[in-house]
Amino acid sequence: EQTLRRKGRSGIFSLHHEKEKMPERPFLRRVCSFTRYPMERNSVSDFYRLLSLYEDYLSYGYERERDDDPGLSVVQTQTGEDSLDAIAFEVRSCRLCRLSATRKQPVPGMGKSSPLVLVVGEAPGAEEDAEGLPFVGAAGKYLDKWLGAIGLDRNTNTYITNVVKCRPPQNRDPLPEESACCLPFLVRQIDLLKPKAILTVGRISSQLLTGQALGIGQMRGRIYRYRDIPLFVTYHPSAVLRNQAEYRSPVWEDLKRLKEYLKDDLR
Ligand code: URA
Repeated sequence: EQTLRRKGRSGIFSLHHEKEKMPERPFLRRVCSFTRYPMERNSVSDFYRLLSLYEDYLSYGYERERDDDPGLSVVQTQTGEDSLDAIAFEVRSCRLCRLSATRKQPVPGMGKSSPLVLVVGEAPGAEEDAEGLPFVGAAGKYLDKWLGAIGLDRNTNTYITNVVKCRPPQNRDPLPEESACCLPFLVRQIDLLKPKAILTVGRISSQLLTGQALGIGQMRGRIYRYRDIPLFVTYHPSAVLRNQAEYRSPVWEDLKRLKEYLKDDLR
């Protein structure tokens, strides 16, 4: 509840959550008093944890084993602050949309905290779903090449994530309600990571973060801002793999533009 209030600054965040307000504290206390969890728990992740406990209780009658580490949630409760670990925990236990029923592994994101660049893709594919990591299939290897060409690397100065953290069946586009459910995770990741620049790859993330309902061809070529962070738009690596002749050279122009913006930090 408190975290929601704090995050209420974000238009997108409140848009998503305002309608379904978290319960008032007295109710949450009553809920907590029926569980084995301490009453002072007060974060959004604790609330989701309670929801999933109730889901277990109602659907199975017992608490299912989970592979996520509940300790991560405790860290957030003790400090009262948001963290990438807390977000990853919430993503792993999230059941807000139907993708949670078909995913193998949710994919919160990976890379350096305080990165130079945050890359935002669309949604995990089959390999990402199997490994729980973003951009690890063919498109991911190609993306790593692009990043390497301008001095970026997910192990040293870049963070990679997607708008939607669970794989849509048959790799279809995420539905608007799926993006809406997942967007608060991305907003919180951006808040915490504070990247020097954002690179959106593909239509879904580019439209969402620029607010433009245009194709990449019309959007690319200028620098946008997402909450004061410069944002660069380019094609999705899968699209470029499918049509190198058309997209390779514009992508290279986009990457050079990003490199030029980062030149003082990349030395
Ligand atoms: N495509 C995406 O948009 N994201 C991934 O993580 C993998 C493929």
